[in-house]
Amino acid sequence: EKGGYDHFMLKEIYEQPRAIKDTYRGRMLVNEGIIKMSGLDQHMEKFLNANRIIIVACGTSWHAGLVAEYIFEDLARIPVEVEYASEFRYRNPVITENDVVIAISQSGETADTLAAIKLAKENGAFVFGVCNVVGSSIARETHAGAYTHAGPEIGVASTKAFTTQITVLTLVALKLAKEKGELSEDQFHQHLIELEGIPAKVEKTLEGNPLVEIIAEDYKDSDNCLYLGRGYNFPVALEGALKLKEISYIHAEGYPAAEMKHGPIALIDEQMPVIVIATRKGHYEKVVSNIQEIKSRKGKIIAIVTEGDEQVRDLADHVIEIPETFESLSPLLTTIPLQLLSYHIAVMRGCNVDQPRNLAKSVTVE
Ligand code: F6R
Repeated sequence: EKGGYDHFMLKEIYEQPRAIKDTYRGRMLVNEGIIKMSGLDQHMEKFLNANRIIIVACGTSWHAGLVAEYIFEDLARIPVEVEYASEFRYRNPVITENDVVIAISQSGETADTLAAIKLAKENGAFVFGVCNVVGSSIARETHAGAYTHAGPEIGVASTKAFTTQITVLTLVALKLAKEKGELSEDQFHQHLIELEGIPAKVEKTLEGNPLVEIIAEDYKDSDNCLYLGRGYNFPVALEGALKLKEISYIHAEGYPAAEMKHGPIALIDEQMPVIVIATRKGHYEKVVSNIQEIKSRKGKIIAIVTEGDEQVRDLADHVIEIPETFESLSPLLTTIPLQLLSYHIAVMRGCNVDQPRNLAKSVTVE
C-alpha cells in the first residue's frame, strides 16, 4: 500500500506531480483560456463584492493560507487576512456580510476550523471551504467550496495536501483576477500555461532527492535549524520549519529573512544550519545580502536556488536547484526540497516518520 516506498510520507511527496494535476484537471482549460470551478462560479458576486477575504486554518493549512494571501493580493488585488482558527474563534472578530471567509483543511475535521466557520456564518459571512476529504464536516458546513483532489493523505505530516491547497487557491485567485480585470487575457493565459507546467517541474525538483539526502546526513545531529524566506516564500520557510519539528523533533524556526536581524541572528554560530529560499524571482538581491549576514557569523547555509544560479552558489555551503517559474507559483517547487530534507533527517534519526509522537492526523478536539 506504500507503493514501494518506505513510508507514506515519501510516497505522498512523490505523488505531488499527479496530485497537482488532479487538482487542476477539468477546472483549468488552458487552450480555451478559462477556469471553471462550480463552487466559485455560482457565487462569483459574493467574491467580487467582498470587502476582504479572511482565511481561517491551522498548521500546514494555515501556511497554505499565507501563501494564498500573497497570491490574492498580488494577482486579484483583494485584501486578505489570514487567521489561526483557534485565535479567530475566541477573539470576538469583526465579521460582516461583506466578508468572504475561506476555510482550509485537509481532513475537513479540525475542531477549531469548524468552530471558526460556524462563527463566521452566524455573523453573515459567506464561507468557502478548501478541503481534501470529500463529505467531511467542514465540506458540509461551508456554503460552497472546492476540493483539493490530492487523494488520501496518510502520513501525519502534511505534504501533498499543502501543494494542492495552494493549487486550488491559485485557481481561485486567477479567476477572480480575470473577472476583476486585474490580469489581461494574455497575462491570465500565461499563468494557466505556467501552472500546467508545474507538475513536470515538481518532477524535476524531485530528481534532486539524492542530493538532499546527502545534505541531510551533514545536519541530522543539529539541535536547531533556521528557515528563511521572503515574500511568497516566507510561508514556505514556516512550513519547512514545521515539517522538521514535527517529524525529526529538531527545534526549527521559520522567519522572514529580513526580520532575522531583529533577533534570531543572535542564534547564529557555526553550529546553526540556516535554510534560505533564494530563488531568482522575488527579492533576490535582498536575500543575497541576508545570506551574507549569516555567512559573516559562520552559519551553515543551505540555499534553495533557481537553476543556473551562481551568486548564491559562491556563498552557500550547499545549494539545491529548482526550475525557473513565476514567483507566484514558486512555493509549489521550493517546498519540495524542504519536505525531503525533513524526511531524510527524521529517517536518519530513527523517528517514526508517518506517525510522529504526540500528533494526530486530524485534530478533532480543541
Ligand atoms: C502538519 C499538520 C498539521 C495540520 C493541521 C491542520 O504537517 O499535519 O499542522 O496541517 O492540524 O489540519 P487540517 O488541514 O486537516 O485542518
